[in-house]
Amino acid sequence: MDTRDAKALLLDDVRTYHRQTQADQRFVPGETEIWPSGAVLDEDDRVALVEAALDLRIAAGRSARKFESAFARTLKRRKAHLTNSGSSANLLALSALTSHLLEDRRLRPGDEVITVAAGFPTTVNPILQNGLVPVFVDVELGTYNTTADRVAQAIGPRTKAIIIAHALGNPFDVAEMAQLAEEHDLFLIEDNCDAVGSTYDGRLTGTFGDLATVSFYPAHHLTMGEGGCVLTSNLALARIVESMRDWGRDCWCEPGENDKCLKRFTYQMGDLPAGYDHKYIFSHVGYNLKATDLQAALGLTQLAKLEEFGAARRRNWRRLRDGLDDVPHLLLPEATPRSDPSWFGFVLTIDPDAPFRRAELVDFLEGRKIGTRRLFAGNLTRHPAYIGQPQRVVGELTNSDLITEHTFWIGVYPALTDEMLDYVIASIREFVKTHS
Ligand SMILES: Cc1ncc(COP(=O)(O)O)c(C=O)c1O
Repeated sequence: MDTRDAKALLLDDVRTYHRQTQADQRFVPGETEIWPSGAVLDEDDRVALVEAALDLRIAAGRSARKFESAFARTLKRRKAHLTNSGSSANLLALSALTSHLLEDRRLRPGDEVITVAAGFPTTVNPILQNGLVPVFVDVELGTYNTTADRVAQAIGPRTKAIIIAHALGNPFDVAEMAQLAEEHDLFLIEDNCDAVGSTYDGRLTGTFGDLATVSFYPAHHLTMGEGGCVLTSNLALARIVESMRDWGRDCWCEPGENDKCLKRFTYQMGDLPAGYDHKYIFSHVGYNLKATDLQAALGLTQLAKLEEFGAARRRNWRRLRDGLDDVPHLLLPEATPRSDPSWFGFVLTIDPDAPFRRAELVDFLEGRKIGTRRLFAGNLTRHPAYIGQPQRVVGELTNSDLITEHTFWIGVYPALTDEMLDYVIASIREFVKTHS
């Protein structure tokens, strides 16, 4: 048997094994876990991973390149750079704005970056990690996004950029935000980690800003286990992102390639001797934030299901929204006007005057194996990590505080069935009825 046949046989066995693992997935109310999120992995995903492993494609290679170009095409950006996480993607996107190649527009220590107080920490952390100052604004209840108006009020003489996430898949008013950024010569980074496939004004989120980031952690719309991506249509920024991702090197050959520019030994840069090998010339103080080919191989099979996953997320969200519409004491989520979210989760805020507390409802649901999550950090400025850090807060963070006390979310991810969602709806109804 030649190696190709041996591999085909092995992969056939993988398919058989996969089917065996899927047997008996009956839903038992109160016993089966209803996760708030999770990876949805099929036979093709398992085969892709095993095949990459069989080929020993352990570093970034052909699947990584293929994924980057397919993902850039899908998300309608010219360039995509894979990273090892969404947090790394945010770090890279913001760090890129400090590059000397941006000359007068580069961000310098002490410059300000506007962001929201209620969200995920690693949207904000790269601001501090680069010696910049986060400027926190509040968000709205219902959409859980801030608005261009709130951001406009926060712009000061040292403000240079905006980085904001589309909250739980719900787009912020990103067209207005992009216009605001342009009027004030600010960079805009869309943290699109929770919103791949969402649209605003019929246009994909992630296509409005200078840079966009994505996460491929299992909770997200597509997964690679761990992984992320930085997208841009600005080729100068793409080159900086690539350099910073790949140790800060100036050369753009793939690790296994040599001399694509045909000038490898002709450069003179910095104080180096003329002809120093371009592969080892470093023009940025960079990182190594690359992903592996195993991750990318999984990303490719996942990418084929993006539309199907988005449709399921929208359908599941709608079922919960309709099923809970008339329940008192709960503020139900709303899509931002002019948007079509590919939802990450279904957010609920309990009326502060309700006859029950969030903890009681969450305990009740968790007791029935219905998983809940917080709107990430709630008000980040109240966390130990951020107290005493350089920052500016514009206006009151009233809603961020309310979210910290009264908000949580439940799942809409594609593996949830109508039966599960109906059980979630019935459970919430039952709780509210018996506690009102
Ligand atoms: C809005 C947002 N940004 C960034 C991240 C970080 O992504 P990762 O977990 O891949 O580092 C997350 C993670 O859930 C997120 O929700």
